[in-house]
Amino acid sequence: MKPTPSHLAYVPFVSVENMMRLVNATGPERFMAELADYIEEDFKRWPEFDKTPRVASHSQDGVIELMPTADSENYGFKYVNGHPKNMREGYQTVTAFGVLSSVANGYPILFTEMTVLTALRTAATSALVGKYLAPKGAEVMAMIGNGAQCEFQALAFRAICGINRLRLYDIDPAATEKAARNLIAQGFEVVKCASGNEAVEGAQVITTCTADKQYATILTDNMVGAGVHINAIGGDCPGKTELHKDILLRSDIFVEYPPQTRIEGEIQQLPEDHPVIELWQVMRGELPARRDAKQITLFDSVGFAIEDFSALRYVHDRIKGTDYFAPLDMLADPDDPRDLFGMVMRAA
Ligand SMILES: NC(=O)c1ccc[n+]([C@@H]2O[C@H](COP(=O)([O-])OP(=O)(O)OC[C@H]3O[C@@H](n4cnc5c(N)ncnc54)[C@H](O)[C@@H]3O)[C@@H](O)[C@H]2O)c1
Repeated sequence: MKPTPSHLAYVPFVSVENMMRLVNATGPERFMAELADYIEEDFKRWPEFDKTPRVASHSQDGVIELMPTADSENYGFKYVNGHPKNMREGYQTVTAFGVLSSVANGYPILFTEMTVLTALRTAATSALVGKYLAPKGAEVMAMIGNGAQCEFQALAFRAICGINRLRLYDIDPAATEKAARNLIAQGFEVVKCASGNEAVEGAQVITTCTADKQYATILTDNMVGAGVHINAIGGDCPGKTELHKDILLRSDIFVEYPPQTRIEGEIQQLPEDHPVIELWQVMRGELPARRDAKQITLFDSVGFAIEDFSALRYVHDRIKGTDYFAPLDMLADPDDPRDLFGMVMRAA
């Protein structure tokens, strides 16, 4: 008789369908607010993690990356790509999946889609940082780049920072139309703009979320007034930036993990020793967040492994006792741990 997998063979697997069910049952805003709490908790215990810049394999068309990290209990990694040309060919720019494992025996305890989850965790991180850095009473956010990440960013900023008024601009008006339609349906006050200059008018927060493999200049120096918080999402690879260098020189720059951000972030345009402020220290209260109403703050976001680890931890906790996952026969588990070959033969 063919052996059937033991309970040790199964790893909970969250498909895209189940991730969407979980997000919809929770509500995307509550999901991202709760996820931001997990991210904040993990940033506050930053020294406990193994950290390394992500392992990136670059090609002419894009990048494929592995993003690992671990604490004493769990190990997590995400596989993620970034291919700006994909969208024109009917593919996503970014797709991802990830694994959370037990450090004690190395067995995976969660396998999940992370394309949707990456959009959620990126937005949750941005809004969490916005909570510390956005000027007091911020009401209006400019959003330049209205692609896949855009609506998630808007919802997270509303859930965490209370921002409900948006000024949208994309080089492709169809993207702005799509985002406006989705966001008006979510109850936002939306202004569609014909240029980046128009979008930033009267905005206290500026989110740049474009995708281009080349050095781009989405924001020029004259577009950024005193007191603004910039949430720069799209500059996240060597050679892929969004801000003019002069903006960086006028800003206080907040980063996730400097060794990775210096390679991938906006600050790749600056000397290696240009001062940056690490967000985990701000969240622990060891360094100041926003000091005054005139300061320009910049979150030079590239996306760091600990944010994905927090997202994996959150999903792992959320699916317990639910049907938002399927057991996946992923781990070979012979009765005698040394008889892997015998198990294969008995299955013939
Ligand atoms: N920092 C992070 O943690 C993180 C996480 C995920 C994605 N990203 C990055 O965020 C960016 C956006 O991702 P996405 O999934 O939304 O991509 P997407 O391709 O779905 O959308 C990008 C949008 O930018 C627009 N655009 C391109 N050039 C522009 C310009 N010059 N001015 C205005 N709009 C322009 C495009 O028309 C498109 O609508 C990508 O660069 C991606 O790599 C960063």
